[in-house]
Formats: sequence, C-alpha cells, structure tokens
Amino acid sequence: MKPTAYITTSISYANAKPHIGHALEWVQADFLARALRADNFEVRLLTGTDEHGLKVQQAATKEGSEPKIFVQQQSLQFQSLADKLDISYQRFIRTTDQDHLETAQAIWKRCQKNGDIYKRRYQAWYDTKEETFLGLVSDFPDPSVFGVESRFIEQIDEENYFFRLSKYQEDITSLLKGGELKITPFSRAVELLNFIADKGLEDISISRDAKKLAWGIPVPDDQDQVMYVWFDALTNYLTASSKLSPDGEIIPDTFWPPTLHCVGKDIQRFHSLIWPAMLRSAGLPLPKEILVHGFIVAEDGRKMSKSLGNVIDPSPLVDKYGSDVIRWFLLKEISTTDDARLSEERIKEVYNADLANTIGNLVSRLATMAERYLSGRVLVQPNAEMQAICESAATNYDQAISNRELQSALHTAFALAVSCNRSIEEFKPWQVAKNAERNEELATQLGAWFFGLAQIIRLIAPAIPQAAAKLGWLTKEGEVTVPSDLEILFPRR
Ligand code: MSP
Repeated sequence: MKPTAYITTSISYANAKPHIGHALEWVQADFLARALRADNFEVRLLTGTDEHGLKVQQAATKEGSEPKIFVQQQSLQFQSLADKLDISYQRFIRTTDQDHLETAQAIWKRCQKNGDIYKRRYQAWYDTKEETFLGLVSDFPDPSVFGVESRFIEQIDEENYFFRLSKYQEDITSLLKGGELKITPFSRAVELLNFIADKGLEDISISRDAKKLAWGIPVPDDQDQVMYVWFDALTNYLTASSKLSPDGEIIPDTFWPPTLHCVGKDIQRFHSLIWPAMLRSAGLPLPKEILVHGFIVAEDGRKMSKSLGNVIDPSPLVDKYGSDVIRWFLLKEISTTDDARLSEERIKEVYNADLANTIGNLVSRLATMAERYLSGRVLVQPNAEMQAICESAATNYDQAISNRELQSALHTAFALAVSCNRSIEEFKPWQVAKNAERNEELATQLGAWFFGLAQIIRLIAPAIPQAAAKLGWLTKEGEVTVPSDLEILFPRR
C-alpha cells in the first residue's frame, strides 16, 4: 500500500476576484502534492472557497444579489483559475456544500459535549475585512487604536456562543514548543509562542445573532444563532476527509490527519491556535504541519489592495504566458516564506532567462545534436561526472523539499541545467564532431547530457507539469528516439 499525504490550501473568501496571492498558495501546495506523488505517495490535495460570513454577505448586497447566487458565481472564478493553473486537487470544497454544513454542526456538537462551548453577553469591536474580533469595548473604548479603517469596524453587542480556547493554552504551547505541531518556518512558531506568552489565549466568540448575520451555518439546536465564519471555515479540512455516521459522529478517513496546511501569514493564528484547540476539544488527531507563506507585494513594496488599485489578477497573466511560466515564477522567484515583489516585467525577464535561454535552450540544442550526430537515437546513460552531479542535486533537492524550501529546491534543479549548458560549451561538440575518431566519445557524452536533462525534468516536473509532459519520451536510462517534430518549449519573448 502506498503511503498517504493530505495537503490543503486555505479556502478563499468568495467576496471578490482571485488575486496573485491565492495563486501563490495554490501553486506551493500543488508543487508539494506533485513532488510527493512522484515519490510514490497517494496524495489528496484540497482547495476551495469560504462562502459565509459578513464580508461575503456585504459584497452580495452591494452587488444587489442573493448571497447564494453571488457565491456560486464567485466560486466558479476561483475554480476556473485553479484549473487554469493546473492545480491537481481532488476536491474543490465550498463551505455551502451540504456535507460541510453537516460536518461543521457535528464538530460543534462534539466541542459542546466536551463542555467547551458556552453562551455569554459581550460588547466587542469586529473587523469585517479580516472577519476577526479586535477587542472588547470595555478594554478599548476607542477603536481607532486598532489601526483598522473605520468603515470595516463594526460594534457587536450580542449574546453569543463562546469557545473555551483558554482551556487549551498550555496544550497548544507545548505542541508548538515540542514541534508536535510543526510550524514552518520556525520563526512563525516563535511569533505565536511570544503572542501566547504576552497576551494569553482568551475564549473566543464563535457565533453571531442570526438577525445581524443571516448568511452562515445555523448553530445546532439554536436557530437564532449562526456560526462564526472561521469556526465554519476551518472545519472544511475535516469535511473533505471524513464521513458522518447515521447518529452524526465524525468518522475520519485514512487521509486524516492533514500532512500540511498551506496558509498565508495573516491567517496562521487561526490555523495554529484555534484549529488545533477545536480538534483537541473534538478528540480528533491534529494536523502535522503548517507552512506559512509571506505576501506578494507590489513592485514599489506596497501591499496589494483594492483601494490602492494595485491588485494583480493572475488570470490574464496565465492566459498570456501559460500556466507553467506563472507557476515557475511563483515558485522559483518568490520566496517560499518571506514577502516578495512581483511585476509583469520581472515575469518576462525570468521567463527569458530561465525557461527560454536555459531550460528550453538545453532541450533544443540536445535535440538538434541528437538529430545531427546520432540520427535522433540516443543511449541515455550517465558518465561518472554526470552521475555525481545528478546525485548531489537530487539529495539537495529532496532535503529542500522536506524543509519546505521550495524556492531552493528549484534553484538546485535550475543549477543543474546551467551546468549542463556549460558542459556543452566546454566540450564543444561541434568541433568534436569533425573528428570521426571521436564519434563514440561524442555519443557517450550526448547520452550523459540527456541523462542530466532527464534528471532536470524529473526535478522541475512538479513546478512545470505541462512542459514535463511534453518531454515524457525522455526516460532516465536506455535508448530513446528524439521526436523529429519536437516543438520549441519556451520561445523567446
Ligand atoms: N477565507 C480565509 C481562509 C479560511 S481557511 C479555513 C481567507 N481567505 S482570503 O481569500 O482572504 O485569503 C486566502 C489566502 O490568500 C490566505 O492564505 C492569504 O494569506 C493569502 N493571501 C492574501 N493576500 C495575499 C498576498 N498579497 N500575497 C500572498 N498571499 C496572500 O483568509
């Protein structure tokens, strides 16, 4: 039986169009899923849309639309982008799916049964943009201290259900300290531990008055309340990996618990603090790791936001350059975990330098030489030098992937392509070919370069699957026939 892995992205709010940050997260998760599949794992990849809550309800109202119809249209845009980017998901979950509603209610009941849900009246400030509570009105009479635009702040004065997050403070602290719940990079775990040490974990409100917020999952046995959107949304990972027994018990399947949740730095707290506490309360195994990526910022270093009008829509970029190119850029040029800048100009530069002039060029010059010197038939076989370079590249690559340093993994693969190109320059096959006595040497050397190319393709396939599929005829070892109609993979732009 194959080992299994369960990888998830966060689910995107269905209130606006997808942007480049969503694409980054999906491509990271997909790269890891494909790399693990190549390593013989059976991988389930989950992505989808987060469709309830105030933010979505307000966006629908603004469009003069019913939330249900509005989210349907929004969700399709996200799914179509995921498809365009070749995200190899097994399920695209929507939090309006019936099985999700049932699972969210089931986990609520389990937490309640465990004594972790209670009702309380309170007054608090709420950030509708981030769907997060800012603080109690009694502690912060003036909400301007939060630095949140006033149009996004709402005052809540309600009796709602609360979750006993405080009960899990010690437990979560030791999970993070001991690495049982691994946060990558570790600096993000330190941030969380400092936050806990500084502020402590307080109980959180997990419902809203249905009269104020109608668009949500009803709280079990209380039709006057709907679930807080994060309690609902976090459960999506469980919905996609469990079934409910006839009496409503949650039965996780063989993929549970998640191997890795890919999330952005702004939502890591929900995943690293609230989500594990919910699962502990429900008596379910916890995810193993959370990979936290940074933010893509505009070329001038400013945050992308609708009001600044500098949000980059990935869809036209994918249409113009192709999915492989955008994937390659996001994985190799954008830091896996730090903030990074992105511009179309830079995408074009990297396209020409990496894909056209290095990888594409290596493929076409090897194909041309195979045709010219060996009538298109090559015995793919490493020489000692190529064997050593490829082995060391594979080791570094595997190490980088297990450290979740995706950028570094691709730099390693790319360096192998650079070194094959350099080796061709140094060997000067066009001169060697003039000497009939060196025919065999030339054939052997070509076989070694093809071996190097096969290794490179294997390593970059999870990043640029379309190009890799076009080179499917290239096997690791043995005789191959180079297709005579091989197209130029990455023409210069
Ligand atoms: N719906 C919640 C997640 C619920 S998961 C149970 C949410 N949605 S979101 O659409 O606002 O963000 C989805 C992901 O995109 C988050 O991981 C977020 O960090 C990421 N990004 C949003 N803007 C980004 C950039 N500018 N750059 C990189 N990623 C960013 O949060």
